[in-house]
Amino acid sequence: MTSFVGLVLAAGLGKRMKSSLPKALHQVAGQPMIDHVIGTLIKSGASRVITVVGHEGHILQEHLAGRSETVWQHEQLGTGHAAAQAGPALAGYAGNVIVIPGDVPLLSASAIQNLVEAHETRGYAATVLTMVVDDPDEYGRVVRDPSGHVSSIVEYRDASDEIRAVREVNTSVYCFNNHNLFNALPLLSNDNQQGEYYLTDVISVLISQNLPVGAVALDDASEGMGINSRVGLAAAEQAMRDRKRRSLMEDGVTLVDPASAFIDTQVTIGRDTVIMPFTVISGSTSIGESCSIGPYVHIRDSAIGDGCNVGPFAFVRPGTVLGARVKVGDFVEVKNSRVGEGTKIPHLSYIGDAVLGAGINIGAGTITCNYDGVAKHTTVIDDGAFVGANSNLVAPVRVGQNAYIATGSTVTTDVPAEALAIARARQENKDGWVAKRRAAQAAKEEKK
Ligand code: UD1
Ligand code: CA
Repeated sequence: MTSFVGLVLAAGLGKRMKSSLPKALHQVAGQPMIDHVIGTLIKSGASRVITVVGHEGHILQEHLAGRSETVWQHEQLGTGHAAAQAGPALAGYAGNVIVIPGDVPLLSASAIQNLVEAHETRGYAATVLTMVVDDPDEYGRVVRDPSGHVSSIVEYRDASDEIRAVREVNTSVYCFNNHNLFNALPLLSNDNQQGEYYLTDVISVLISQNLPVGAVALDDASEGMGINSRVGLAAAEQAMRDRKRRSLMEDGVTLVDPASAFIDTQVTIGRDTVIMPFTVISGSTSIGESCSIGPYVHIRDSAIGDGCNVGPFAFVRPGTVLGARVKVGDFVEVKNSRVGEGTKIPHLSYIGDAVLGAGINIGAGTITCNYDGVAKHTTVIDDGAFVGANSNLVAPVRVGQNAYIATGSTVTTDVPAEALAIARARQENKDGWVAKRRAAQAAKEEKK
């Protein structure tokens, strides 16, 4: 397969989203839709990616920096007009262009590869990726002539009842010969219900030029879902999460209750790890083998080593790296910290901006006091230390190797290795105090 250019259309307002965020930046399974689309293009072999931006284009441009070139469509006059804006960027290019909207996050790289392959082997000027659906809704209908060749795409709003009955629809993903596309675009008219220049009309223009046009139908129609509203967004979310769950299970991860495991697409999990119910694993998190995660755990942008035990009710925040066999137990929050092999933080703790060695025991209720109201500071705890329950470690502070912190201490200065630190008021017992007070109260009553 020769290479191709990916042209992403993302200048539209996304009116039906009712949002101030550009539609393509709405997230599906933890990633903006446009990132899924661009990732898929690159995975399928695109040599170059160009995105047409317009509505809130600066936000998109910044978001895409370094990953996609951008061209502007200053006025949103339709998908055909949007594609035309890439003319100067593609001038003189003799290869194929995959045009794809920014709102098809579920499409797979293999679907694009199949499309390009069919386009090339059959020598088409344009090949439309279609799908056959039970509910064709407002998709453009793919109209074929009696011999089965595509003759046009008719937008829902412009379609007769007869055409609306067609269940093969346009995914809005196409492979075009670059010259044929840009020769046809200036010939589009906006004489339709929406007064827009439709990219779909390029198909009938090419046919009128006697150029060969083909269509390839998706094997799995769910991949072609175009997201136009929040309802569609939720459907895509569901579909993508299901896909992720399936692939994790196929790779040897147990999801005790798949429906309540919310795992972003970029997350990696090793085999024999068990994910318990109500667990959210997001961002670019990696989890090792043979871990037990959950129930009720949220892990984000962190690396969890092999054999770790996280949860129930734990919150592991960005920048956390857990070594092998670490325990992060109930009501523990760990943020931006490194935790060495075999260390245990079993209950009710906050560990933030800390570097913990191996084989440490952190008692219940231990808090790293990392923030002085202005800056964050680091707590270092060396291997083998024992931090008694309900201790406060006021950063910056270091607890040396094998040191002991007495329960209830507020540690403000470094503790040497092998030392015991007691940092709390000494207890005083006043013998007979209760009886004395009782007697004093009784005397008072008598006076009244
Ligand atoms: C489009 C297709 C329809 C297809 C459907 C599949 C057209 C005319 N219709 O309809 O046949 O079934 O996708 O999902 O192409 N855009 C611009 N500039 C514009 C207008 C749109 O960049 O002026 C971009 C949008 O940001 C979006 C994409 O083009 O990413 C598609 O636009 P949208 O309005 O979602 O088209 P649909 O009505 O879904
Ligand atoms: Ca759409």
